[in-house]
Amino acid sequence: MNITVTKNPHPGKLPPADQLGFGSVFTDHMFVMDYTGDEGWHDARIVPYGPLSISPAASVLHYGTEVFEGLKAYRTPDGGVQLFRPWENVARLNRSCDRLGLPQIDPDDGLQAIKSLVDVDRDWVPNDPGTSLYIRPFLFSTDPTLALHGVHEAMFVIILSPSGSYFKDGLTPVPIMVETEDVRAVRGGTGEAKCGGNYAAANRAGDKAIEKGFSQVLWLDGVERKYVEEGGGMNVMFKINGTVVTPMLTGSILRGVTRKSCIELLKSWGVPVEERLLSVDELFDVAKSGALEEAWCVGTAAVISPIGELAWGERDYKVNEGKIGALSQKLYDELTGIQWGTKPDPFGWTCKV
Ligand code: COI
Repeated sequence: MNITVTKNPHPGKLPPADQLGFGSVFTDHMFVMDYTGDEGWHDARIVPYGPLSISPAASVLHYGTEVFEGLKAYRTPDGGVQLFRPWENVARLNRSCDRLGLPQIDPDDGLQAIKSLVDVDRDWVPNDPGTSLYIRPFLFSTDPTLALHGVHEAMFVIILSPSGSYFKDGLTPVPIMVETEDVRAVRGGTGEAKCGGNYAAANRAGDKAIEKGFSQVLWLDGVERKYVEEGGGMNVMFKINGTVVTPMLTGSILRGVTRKSCIELLKSWGVPVEERLLSVDELFDVAKSGALEEAWCVGTAAVISPIGELAWGERDYKVNEGKIGALSQKLYDELTGIQWGTKPDPFGWTCKV
């Protein structure tokens, strides 16, 4: 794929690490590529970061025809830059496109687009501990019509955001509450796709949880409202009597790359892992009895985020006395060690830019 590059005539500057937060600072450039039914994907370009021009009738604005990804570039101790399993994100982007009827991209082109943009903006990859360059590819329909039909025009865009910790308190365990009214997704719906609509559907419950002093919700399945599914924007794992239990992929849960990596790491250490249905009754019973030893959320943005308290209606339990557990810490250390290149990468998960 040929990518033209137009340099930003007014380059910005990477802010100090303590001013980064998550997803609010953007780099000098973005990648853009257009799609039409006649031409397919064309005009791949890296241009100065700035507003996109689309029709007010563009289907994405009315019908939410959008999918996205999240991955990171890391500064390694030798000053290099590397990505973590980016091919997994490209493959998932295409699966999400398939679910929403959006045109897929050639996986090699997707990878080339990510690497080329990160390379152009490599000075924006921060190097303070815990920081990284968050990469947000997204793809949406620009069909300028209110008619409901298949997609004939689309755009694929990638933006970059130097970021610190997703939660402001970093690795400090967070309180989360079970959401009992809204549901995020149903089997056969779009839960497994990484599409904007899933997150829009989660907003109300997320706001309510924050109002009540929790950092996010724990979703239940949309049919029986009985089984634990995922957290707000991240997968979840529970250590129960020495075994790590994580909700199985039923079709309404995001196939997290961090989830998959944690399962592979845990298995390589000989820790038993069960991907299965976990009812909220079982979870709260083990929390009450003390058999719930640790709980944590996993995601690209959040990495490993320990859960220190679980609430479900009147029931409210501390997990591991509100402290980070040994296994959560070990997972965090190992995963981030591989990502930042301070530990060996026996699985071949990283790739240099
Ligand atoms: C990610 O972890 O990359 C995500 O997509 C979470 C995001 C919704 C904040």
